[in-house]
Amino acid sequence: MCGIVGYTGTGQAAPILLDGLAKLEYRGYDSAGLAVFDGKKITMQKAVGRLKVLSEQTHDGEMMPGTSGIAHTRWATHGAPSRINAHPHSNVERSISVVHNGIIENYLKLRNYLAAKGYVFESETDTEVVAHLLDYYYNGDPIEAMTKVMHRVEGSYALGILFLDHPGEIYAVRKDSPLIVGKGKDGNLIASDVPAVLKYTRQVYFIQNEELTRLTEKDICFYNVEGETINKELSTIEWDVDAAEKGGYEHFMLKEMHEQPKTVRDTLMPRIRDNDVYIEELGMSDDEIRAIHRIHIVACGSASHTGMTAKYVFEEMARIPVVADLASEFRYRDPILEKNDLVIIISQSGETADSLAALREAKKKGVMTLGIVNVVGSSIAREADKIMYTWAGPEIAVATTKAYSAQLIAQYLLAIKFAEARNIIGKEEVAELLKDLKKLPDQIELLLHNKGNIQRFANRYIAAKDVFFIGRGIDYAISLEGSLKLKEISYIHSEAYAAGELKHGTISLIEDGTLVAAVITQEKLYKKTISNVVEVSSRGAFVLAVTNEGNTEVEKVADYVIYIPETSHYFTNSLAIIPLQLFSYYVSVGKGCDVDKPRNLAKSVTVE
Ligand code: AGP
Ligand code: GLU
Repeated sequence: MCGIVGYTGTGQAAPILLDGLAKLEYRGYDSAGLAVFDGKKITMQKAVGRLKVLSEQTHDGEMMPGTSGIAHTRWATHGAPSRINAHPHSNVERSISVVHNGIIENYLKLRNYLAAKGYVFESETDTEVVAHLLDYYYNGDPIEAMTKVMHRVEGSYALGILFLDHPGEIYAVRKDSPLIVGKGKDGNLIASDVPAVLKYTRQVYFIQNEELTRLTEKDICFYNVEGETINKELSTIEWDVDAAEKGGYEHFMLKEMHEQPKTVRDTLMPRIRDNDVYIEELGMSDDEIRAIHRIHIVACGSASHTGMTAKYVFEEMARIPVVADLASEFRYRDPILEKNDLVIIISQSGETADSLAALREAKKKGVMTLGIVNVVGSSIAREADKIMYTWAGPEIAVATTKAYSAQLIAQYLLAIKFAEARNIIGKEEVAELLKDLKKLPDQIELLLHNKGNIQRFANRYIAAKDVFFIGRGIDYAISLEGSLKLKEISYIHSEAYAAGELKHGTISLIEDGTLVAAVITQEKLYKKTISNVVEVSSRGAFVLAVTNEGNTEVEKVADYVIYIPETSHYFTNSLAIIPLQLFSYYVSVGKGCDVDKPRNLAKSVTVE
């Protein structure tokens, strides 16, 4: 994901670019690079690691004279973080330089196409195809070449481009990745986000999907995908830098919750084609899948809750036994692993110490391992035999939301793939499931839209001492995550219970007014959980229920009901978790807690 910056004007470009990149640091980093044009030649510098390394390498930009340039901070999606893979990328003659934020989904096809025409590739990135494709179409008119490229590439992109035969000019375009243009006094800028330009100007243009722009020191022109000139309105930014980094949201957690429709779409769509699931990077044939007899899903915290959900999904959909395990337990238990077992390790950071140790333990025992990881090039991504990425982008808030949602999607797709390979489900059922999956982003959007009601409800519970979450089956897995979200950011004691287990002890804790959140999304278990709701409400509990649209029965027994839109019973976690995330968030805000950095916690737990 990460960020791009571009500048053309009267000042020296490199220091302005480095300064802009620093303002995008919150978007995550693994490497960075810049290209500066002095009117005669384009020079490039790249470095792995934090931005500081690039700044030192270029003496804060001083050793790169020139008044226009483009720069990039990379958060790798295709190819490990390395100097070669860092942006900018160029054509063979180095007369076109490109920085890119996003993912070119059909890059493999394009790469093969261009390679067959003699184009030589240096990096493993998807971005490099853009540089060569621009070269392929370029006849002296940058906008014409860019629109032709837009017709060929699929996926998301914000691109900043320099052409050697157009000194003093920078070009940019976006589709589904952010991009703004800043109109400054001594030059103009492009950037992935407003904070990068605020030092120079508060006057910005917001570029819409499939709009192109050409900037010179004095002029800014806009074009549509047909190459026709369009007019755009200038906006004035009133926010401060801190608010701008959060895209106007009060906290990163709120921003990331709102990014979930996009995250789900990004993790899902590149893997669906012709009503079927393709997980290219997985590299597992149907025969290999069929050979697997048992799956162990191993992870920590929220990631383990997605594994618990997946256990129910895999077992019912693909009829394969699944053990959902905690990495900290698995690693020391001398687990019994057999030749045909598959160990799946799930991790946002890819660096969680217990999960990494569990992976190594599984490899030591000679079984196949698969990492479902968000951070490309992280230890788990590197060491697992097979890898499947979640495309959630950098997650800043300690409490995970969007990475959690992406992990669910990755595992649904795997379950469908396994069920199909094992001949448990046929083409028609796959098509039905995919239809439901594709609806999830809009359905999540709808639930997020309802946040006002949840905020009002949450405000009544900021003084709560204990909260219980109950559910059965997948609803139990959802309850585990709902409960963890609440305790980690609001410091309210809460527990998740398998609803049928309450009566074996825990129900003695229910008092007048205790909040019980009941998750009731599994139709075949409705009646059973409703009985448990009656048990707690008759002992004085106040019951918040999250259930499916149409299940109005629940209104008779619960005090407050939140409905989720219709989806397959396998996928309800993706929807039911949204109001529970919002509830925890608003309780935390109401209590004045540090939402993004809760006490005693760290984003990446690299110790035991
Ligand atoms: C969840 O909100 C927590 N931040 C935590 O439980 C987290 O999911 C866990 O530490 C695992 O992290 P990972 O996904 O980076 O391995
Ligand atoms: N997909 C590109 C890469 O892996 C761009 C990633 C980014 O947005 O930083 O290099």
